[in-house]
Amino acid sequence: MHDPAEFRRLGHELVDLLADHLAEAQAADSDLPVLPAAAPRDARARWTGAPFPGGTNPSELWRDIVAHTHHIQHRRSVGHQVAPPTGVAALTDLLTSTLNNSSAIFEMGPVATAVESRIVEWMGARLGLPDDCGGVLTSGGSLGNLTALLAMRNLKRDADDSRPMAVLVGMQTHYCVDRALSILGMGNTLPVPVDERFRMHVPVLDVMKERSEIAGARVVGVVASACSTSTGAIDPLDEIADFCDDHDLWFHVDGAHGASFVLSDELRRRLPGIERADSVVWDAHKTLLVPSLVTGVLFRDGRHAAASVAPRAEYLFDNPDDDLDLGRRTLECTKPSLGLELYVTLATHGEAALAEYLDAMVARAAQFAERLRDTDDFELLTWPDANIVCFRHTPGGVQGEALDDLQRTLRERVVAGGRYYLTRTYLRNAQWLRCTLLNPATTDADLRGLLEALRAAVPG
Ligand SMILES: Cc1ncc(COP(=O)(O)O)c(C=O)c1O
Repeated sequence: MHDPAEFRRLGHELVDLLADHLAEAQAADSDLPVLPAAAPRDARARWTGAPFPGGTNPSELWRDIVAHTHHIQHRRSVGHQVAPPTGVAALTDLLTSTLNNSSAIFEMGPVATAVESRIVEWMGARLGLPDDCGGVLTSGGSLGNLTALLAMRNLKRDADDSRPMAVLVGMQTHYCVDRALSILGMGNTLPVPVDERFRMHVPVLDVMKERSEIAGARVVGVVASACSTSTGAIDPLDEIADFCDDHDLWFHVDGAHGASFVLSDELRRRLPGIERADSVVWDAHKTLLVPSLVTGVLFRDGRHAAASVAPRAEYLFDNPDDDLDLGRRTLECTKPSLGLELYVTLATHGEAALAEYLDAMVARAAQFAERLRDTDDFELLTWPDANIVCFRHTPGGVQGEALDDLQRTLRERVVAGGRYYLTRTYLRNAQWLRCTLLNPATTDADLRGLLEALRAAVPG
């Protein structure tokens, strides 16, 4: 099972298989279905076969896995916020899996811990946080938000105030924030309404805070989204920061999707105020072309990074001064080498290449939005702040529930056809189609083709 010669032989086969897959997924005339048609029951049946007697050729199995998976690298996969990883990022993933260093303490991962610390430092600097900021990498934005909000809760505790703590959270905030707050025993939060562009409506924050307090809670923070998941709307961070300053509240920015925009001079302007946050979550696996999961949790005051966890594992943490014993700052114990894929990507391609990539994705979204706005039989929900576009097909004479049913049917049919993958969302009491543009291979022609495919999918 650990034969180096066998590893070499199989490795070559795997890399050949994946290189062929990438070429097929990126080809303009690709016949590869984005999501191979299979009901969940059939999919389960395919992979059932217990017990496992062994003897299967792994190369054949890999071929099968590639054939039946969701092809994220496909140029016409424009649905969820999942990055098509770069070649070096994916290969570094193989490297980190093979070396299998944990990054809880320095001795278990001397490269992983140092690189993580470097990535955290880099993220803090790019966000514009002070020099003494700090943080940690976590396995995903959900865990990242939980980590940041746990630190907030611990720091905002007041022994003289027995009221339950509450946080103001926008209506469009990702569900993992509500879940984190309820895990932390702070689930009694009123959702803050959004404006017509789905951004947190700052003028009502005062009222929302008052209402929470009348209900017996003590408001200790505000969670802003940059951007929110459904529409890509970026909350007015500067104004929210002002509100937090005025009321001594913790200002947390869930930048899982959009914090990467700070890398681009152009897109940075969409995030004024992010540098004022007490804590920020930033997912590299969404918008920095690395495989899942790599999330930065940044704290404006680096000392606060340790406030989420205070482990008493003396057998691990016997050196109180060692900054590279990352387990002091994370809920994970055995933790993958989270920063390496991003580090190698940055070192290989440079920050400017990632900034250009983000500019291109947001520009493509704007171009698509323009087309939708100018097309009679499609309606654009709102002008996109980011690379997420929501819209619906509005052929003449279809309204109300029938229009909602139509969007569901169109998505089902188009996805089942295999040529495209897009998602759906529910906003303003109606169904909308939703695209996230993350693949550099996706062209304007692909998006025009998507609209054609949707038109052709209208029943009747
Ligand atoms: C704004 C936002 N926050 C948090 C998350 C959760 O991140 P993860 O999927 O990495 O747990 C998402 C995921 O889509 C998101 O869009």
